Amino acid sequence: MRKPIVAGNWKMNNTMEKSIRLVNDLIPLIKNQNKVDRVIIPPFTALATVSDLLRFTSISCGAQNLFWEPKGAYTGEISAYMIEDLADYVIIGHSERRTYFNETDETVNKKIVAALNVGLTPIMCVGETYEENQAGKTGEVILHQMNKGLADIPIVNGAKFVVAYEPVWAIGTGLAATGEVANKVIADYIREPLSHLFGEEVAQRIRVLYGGSVNAANAAEFFEQPEIDGALVGGASLKSHDFADIVNAAASAKK
Ligand code: 13P
Repeated sequence: MRKPIVAGNWKMNNTMEKSIRLVNDLIPLIKNQNKVDRVIIPPFTALATVSDLLRFTSISCGAQNLFWEPKGAYTGEISAYMIEDLADYVIIGHSERRTYFNETDETVNKKIVAALNVGLTPIMCVGETYEENQAGKTGEVILHQMNKGLADIPIVNGAKFVVAYEPVWAIGTGLAATGEVANKVIADYIREPLSHLFGEEVAQRIRVLYGGSVNAANAAEFFEQPEIDGALVGGASLKSHDFADIVNAAASAKK
């Protein structure tokens, strides 16, 4: 049995003041739900503060990105070493970064290596656009992202690695995939290549999340699916009660 994860990606939202308020609202709501790994992923400006507020809880903190070089003259960038003591997880290759910041499978690959080198757990995002979906290219696109993003990565401890299937057309649109469709995509184009790359045993231990318009009302549908081990939540993670409902749905999922 893979332990479920529910991660809240705040994206470019929340001032310091709002971040503190949201975390303080969230902690009492989700701190005892130990059946689920709960991860809060604030913007970099609030990372140290949020991380501090979570320090004595069982809730983890994550970062939204990193740069692969360890240090040096890279104005505006943040390395894995700078994140390592503030977070346990880091999102790599989110579709918004691929779309707006020229993230490629090659840079995703470098960032995953950098994260693993310092012991951060990468949450690698993959997913097809609406056009790719409509053209019947979902499988091709995701297999490419998986194989290039994970090329030559020796994953010794498979548990310290997470993949998120986030269909681009479902992100922030209110138009989620169905649980069944997401489950099939994950089985065929994520779990299967993981098995080719790292062997069946490791592939079975790696947790795969669904992301894209997950909310309190539809979350349970995803968590019932055998291949879906949790959710990467955007908009609904900005509302404490909605996020807590999603965490609780993950805890009570019957598989
Ligand atoms: P929404 O839940 O707002 O669709 O965002 C999903 C996402 O991109 C999480 O990383």
